[in-house]
Amino acid sequence: NLPSKATIIEVGPRDGLQNLKTFVPTDAKIDFITELKKAGIPEMELTSFVSPRWVPQMSDAATIIESCNDSETRNFVLVPNQKGIERLRSTSCKNAAVFVGVSDTFNKKNINKTTKESLVELEPLVRELKEEGYFVRACISTSFYCPYEGKVAMEDVVSLCKRFVAFGVDELSVADTIGLANPKESFQLFSVLKEELDDVMLTAHFHNTRGMALANIFAALQAGVDRFDTSAGGLGGCPFAPGASGNVATEDVVYMLEQMGIETGINLKRVVRALENLLPHLDKQYESQYYKLVQSN
Ligand code: HMG
Ligand code: MG
Repeated sequence: NLPSKATIIEVGPRDGLQNLKTFVPTDAKIDFITELKKAGIPEMELTSFVSPRWVPQMSDAATIIESCNDSETRNFVLVPNQKGIERLRSTSCKNAAVFVGVSDTFNKKNINKTTKESLVELEPLVRELKEEGYFVRACISTSFYCPYEGKVAMEDVVSLCKRFVAFGVDELSVADTIGLANPKESFQLFSVLKEELDDVMLTAHFHNTRGMALANIFAALQAGVDRFDTSAGGLGGCPFAPGASGNVATEDVVYMLEQMGIETGINLKRVVRALENLLPHLDKQYESQYYKLVQSN
């Protein structure tokens, strides 16, 4: 009983680019986002309002939003704290993505707060955003393994997710930050989350460090998940999660889903065009089977 449709949330412009050392010119980012939208991407993380000292690649966030926010795509901006949310309020974008790690050590390295401190800060902020009519997504990092603390307990993930649902978020994006989860763990966690959390959109976010992301997506599909964060070209990784490599590639996921008869509404040829335009600005190659196959033919 697999779904007949699935939703792709493209995270390439944010997760994909944030870790690249060479600054990608703002115009190239805007072209990448525009081309991905033409490919039919329905939802996208455009950028993040984080400290330009911590993540220089995202320092052009305000310009990106000004040029790329439209009403056809659900465009998200990542915001870690009060300051990020204030910056978001000064834009036309009405979709916020807050982010927190289940593991304290990771959260501290990523946003300089313990998980509890982040929750204390974010609870009133999420409630305010909801009152102001924002769509709020919560990205839950280190939901399987932490690069510093190892295996993360499923109860801790479920209880953190429940806290965010109680704050009123619309969506949870549950992440395997360093690509260590296996399909059995993916099926287990997403089955439990599907059962325990009603009335919230549930999304799976897999990094492909060990080549298990597609299998993990298939396992999550079997647990009833039909929303997936993916990154064109398989770019990605969090600068504060050592050992993480790219996200699962949009092209590979769309190809797999469409081959199984699960509609995504995404035109793969146009995704490839977006990638070809971006490539000259990158200091690395793409990690995607589909892209490599197209290039070699
Ligand atoms: P901090 O140093 O503790 O911040 O950093 P602070 O509150 O002490 O403020 C210090 C300075 O930063 C001040 O400026 C603030 O105004 C400024 P100064 O007075 O010195 O001139 N500041 C900001 N500037 C811009 N935007 C902001 C902001 N906040 C404070 N929002 C902070 C705390 C959260 C800012 C920092 O730790 C940070 O920027 N971290 C970035 C984390 C990040 O972007 N990580 C990658 C995204 S998460 C991810 O990739 C995982 C995910 O994909 C899921 C998964 O795979 O797991 C989502
Ligand atoms: Mg990520």
